[in-house]
Amino acid sequence: MKSIQSNIKKAKKYLDKNHCIAVPTETVYGLAGNAYSDQSVKKIFKLKKRPTNNPLIVHYSDINKLEDDCVVNDNFIKLYNKFSPGPITFILKLKKGSKISKFVTNKQKSLAVRFPKHPLFRKLLKSLNYPLAAPSANMSTRLSSVKASDVIEEFGSKIKYVLDGGKCKIGVESTIVNILDKPIILRYGGLDILKIKKVLNKKVLVKTTSKKKIAPGQFPLHYSPGIPLRINAKKPKKNEAFVLIKKRKTKFKNYYYLSKNNDLQQSAKNLYTILRKIKKDGYKMIAVEKIQNKGIGITINDRLSRASKY
Ligand code: TXA
Ligand code: MG
Repeated sequence: MKSIQSNIKKAKKYLDKNHCIAVPTETVYGLAGNAYSDQSVKKIFKLKKRPTNNPLIVHYSDINKLEDDCVVNDNFIKLYNKFSPGPITFILKLKKGSKISKFVTNKQKSLAVRFPKHPLFRKLLKSLNYPLAAPSANMSTRLSSVKASDVIEEFGSKIKYVLDGGKCKIGVESTIVNILDKPIILRYGGLDILKIKKVLNKKVLVKTTSKKKIAPGQFPLHYSPGIPLRINAKKPKKNEAFVLIKKRKTKFKNYYYLSKNNDLQQSAKNLYTILRKIKKDGYKMIAVEKIQNKGIGITINDRLSRASKY
């Protein structure tokens, strides 16, 4: 308990001085900075080598603090009451007079907001008098981090501090829904879109690819382990690592299992860790067996299909 308090204090100290630190969330680790500070936000972009026209998600502990920065609407309230804190990001209208740095939104009039569930991150947010802008803690286009050690692998000593909250429970990023007008899903993620449809009880469009490239979740290449990957493979070719969703009796050195028994939730949680491990084990190519396209399986397939554009 004592160390939790002192780690949060340390994290706060860095953030108050406009440094970036890594924070744990229930989805993936974030690279966080004060969303009201131009200096902090510019650092985030630089560290990630992220194109400056690609806006960031801002994290709040709850709706009270959100109302300084965003205009809320009925659809938001419905979804917020049901799913926050949790793996859903909302695109809302930015309020005039909000202190959000213009670098967060690239001067757009909308803002992506999220209420993370990880208890450590929530404690940290509650101790601050500003919200935190935090993209996933990885180099642009690469795999997100799901453990403190992944963050170190990505950034080394370039970031000041990692608030270690253990392995992320969900393992893939949040689901993004644009509710400025008619609801549109912009990115598949940790929350099943069927649940969102049920709560809104109306038609929800899905637009996870875009010619305008508003969301890099929508860029063709993303979530890449940095080596070629092919999907829906029946068996591996010579020298390929083979990723399977269900344990087999036969043992091969190049077989990697996402779950013991076709468990999609477990597979999502293990996905980025296994892809990182395969690269570290020295493989130059990855084949992945077909994964059921339902529930969080849709998100896994979305990430794998983008990674396969390498
Ligand atoms: O689970 C998550 O969402 C994690 C954790 C750390 O919270 N964060 C995350 O952030 O995945 P990032 O930056 O890697 O992905 C955010 C996505 C990007 O695709 C970005 O383009 C999109 O959100 N986005 C941000 N602001 C937007 C806006 N105003 N309109 C549309 N898309 C936006
Ligand atoms: Mg990302």
